Amino acid sequence: MENVHLFNADLQTPAFVYDEQYMLNVLTLLSRVRNDCGCRILFSVKAFSFIDVLRLISPCVDGFAASSLFEATLCKEILGTSGTVHVTTPGLQERDLRALIDECDYISFNSIPQWLRHRQHATGRAFCGLRVNPKLSFVADERYDPCRPHSKLGAPIDELAELADCRRGALTGITGLHIHNNCEAQSFEPLVQTVRHLYDRLGRILADIHWLNLGGGYLFDRYGDLEGLVQVVDFVKCKSPVEVFFEPGKAIVKNAGYLVASVVDLFENDGKSIAILDTTVNHLPEVFEYQYRPQILQNLPQGKFSYLLAGATCLSGDIFGDYQCDHELTVGSRIIFKEVGAYSLVKAHMFNGVNLPAVYAYSPDAKFSLRRQFTYHDYRSRWMGGTRFTDGDGSDRPCNSRPLIIEQD
Ligand SMILES: Cc1ncc(COP(=O)(O)O)c(C=O)c1O
Repeated sequence: MENVHLFNADLQTPAFVYDEQYMLNVLTLLSRVRNDCGCRILFSVKAFSFIDVLRLISPCVDGFAASSLFEATLCKEILGTSGTVHVTTPGLQERDLRALIDECDYISFNSIPQWLRHRQHATGRAFCGLRVNPKLSFVADERYDPCRPHSKLGAPIDELAELADCRRGALTGITGLHIHNNCEAQSFEPLVQTVRHLYDRLGRILADIHWLNLGGGYLFDRYGDLEGLVQVVDFVKCKSPVEVFFEPGKAIVKNAGYLVASVVDLFENDGKSIAILDTTVNHLPEVFEYQYRPQILQNLPQGKFSYLLAGATCLSGDIFGDYQCDHELTVGSRIIFKEVGAYSLVKAHMFNGVNLPAVYAYSPDAKFSLRRQFTYHDYRSRWMGGTRFTDGDGSDRPCNSRPLIIEQD
């Protein structure tokens, strides 16, 4: 899809386009891995939760990984009985636990106190596990590093080892372990190291558990990239007959996503040409949060025309950065940001009342189809007061325990 002219179809901008074939290609690689080493593949829905995409992905995976009750509820709705729902969150609350146990097949508690506080309620169909923090850092930017100093993510590995030695009963009911300690890694070497470290420190626990979730955080787009994962799974399965899960998000959707914008104004300031777009960094929030610089299809380092691409809101920092083009931009020109399928639409918001991008699928037969348009109604519905909230069955359960029905007073 790297052809600029493709996007000049009748797309209404701003548009978020996802390439179905790209996702299916990555999923095909993953099913080869699954066949080769017998691991289970989950899609981590936090990366992109668009329902049409979840429906596309669900037949190719063993389940979905969620981070909250709302995500878990969505996962269950899409999967029904044809896949498992896995959840882990540092923010688990008692009021959500009953519903989570109903929606989920696997719950990984994030800390030892969280587990001990909730274990008596965690009886039911869900398998309980513990997220371990292996305390091995591989991510340079602490904001993305689950093993940063004083991390809130997972039970520190040494504490868990001590618990296994001194208070074994505290782990009764724990059937699996969960790790996730990487971000955008290009090789599985860190996972090899992490799993070896886990077996060195937690061998006694690992001998007793039934499943191990390896998390996500790895990028790949060729089968060769995944050989390290196959080795890890083989290593684990040689030790004991555990079920191994791998739950990538970004690797499946990142390169499948494009944000298409139009130039709405052009002017000079302090010797730079400013191009205002009909999108905003709020459609790609990591541009602002993490100073991430998205690539555009038209960017040519030697291009003669330089522009500061800027967003449509009143925030002065709503800018994408300096880019070069080989042709002059005019009002109406298209700018196509690429590789923006992950953690973009799920984080996007309507600050300043700027509408969210329309969502288009680009199908394997090379057709764009409009899947969602946001309207003033979507904007307004967030700001409506004077409402009462009930569960679907009218009972008086806490309002975030189930999908809401909002009734006007
Ligand atoms: C527990 C867990 N699993 C899986 C993922 C997915 O990671 P990625 O999208 O980088 O593959 C994340 C991302 O934050 C995570 O926190």
